[in-house]
Amino acid sequence: MVKLTRREFLKLAAAGAAVATIPAAGRWLEPALAQEPKYWIVVCNGPTCAYMGGDKILEAVKSELGIDVGETTPDNKFHLETQPCLGACGTAPNMVVEDKLYSHMTPEKVKRILSELK
Ligand code: FES
Repeated sequence: MVKLTRREFLKLAAAGAAVATIPAAGRWLEPALAQEPKYWIVVCNGPTCAYMGGDKILEAVKSELGIDVGETTPDNKFHLETQPCLGACGTAPNMVVEDKLYSHMTPEKVKRILSELK
């Protein structure tokens, strides 16, 4: 059995997957999609990114958005998570916004990227 995260499930559902085959999905799917943050940000906190300054990247995102890990901005636009490795250690430090990988991150790049998305 394939186990999906809530985010993966909602993305599949939004793409038109056969959610009707999942019992009771319809009851909560619509409100769940409506509440889904627009941008999921994942900052890598794995060892290579940490060594390359990943903690400064995480702090910059938290500071720019005014939220902590696991939280969503009040306007429901950004949600912040961390992950122990994004599989791109050679370009550390990294973060992902939705499906896009941002590499060689700096706090200045965080500010620029987030201001473009706001
Ligand atoms: S430790 Fe960050 S991408 Fe691997």
